[in-house]
Amino acid sequence: MIRIQRIAMDHPLYQQEVALRTAVLLKPIGYSIDDYYNMAPGREEKCEHFVAVIDHPQGDTVIGAATLYPPQADSDEAAGKIQQFCVNKQRQGEGIGTNLMIAIEVRAFTELALPGLYCHAQIDAMPFYEKLGWEAGSDTFQEAGIDHKRMQIITPQPT
Ligand SMILES: CC(C)(COP(=O)(O)OP(=O)(O)OC[C@H]1O[C@@H](n2cnc3c(N)ncnc32)[C@H](O)[C@@H]1OP(=O)(O)O)[C@@H](O)C(=O)NCCC(=O)NCCS
Repeated sequence: MIRIQRIAMDHPLYQQEVALRTAVLLKPIGYSIDDYYNMAPGREEKCEHFVAVIDHPQGDTVIGAATLYPPQADSDEAAGKIQQFCVNKQRQGEGIGTNLMIAIEVRAFTELALPGLYCHAQIDAMPFYEKLGWEAGSDTFQEAGIDHKRMQIITPQPT
């Protein structure tokens, strides 16, 4: 059984979230979690944290993770930003990322009533977002030496 859970940073599963993000996203580009924290001090605390969790004989195990950075009062950006989206390498392609994104979209578009979501997607991962109905919102740019595009999904506004 896989469940999607929203956790705070003092939740026991947060350290597993960090370990997964480190293994799948940060280590391959030579970053540690402290390097990530230092790129935008205070941002991690402002994010909502989502994890995909499986029951395991040795305890709950995080196999997917993502963060949602809500729009900030001092910014022109009205959409929420999805960051650090990843699934355990052995479990990719099973629909876990899709379920994680659906849970985040439900949270963003119902309880938080956000007008949209966006992310800086690695070019290789763009088909994942496109299959979820997201669209490209920028030309290609580089982040951490990797080609990215802004991908976004906008909620229809009442007329
Ligand atoms: C991208 C990622 C989060 C997707 O999670 P996932 O659980 O593997 O995705 P799903 O199984 O829900 O896939 C949904 C669909 O997207 C496709 N897809 C997923 N990742 C893809 C990728 N990197 N490239 C092309 N297609 C991809 C799947 O094939 C699937 O298509 P289908 O419905 O036709 O079968 C995961 O593969 C991952 O962690 N990749 C490495 C880290 C990464 O690239 N993160 C995103 C940074 S922007």
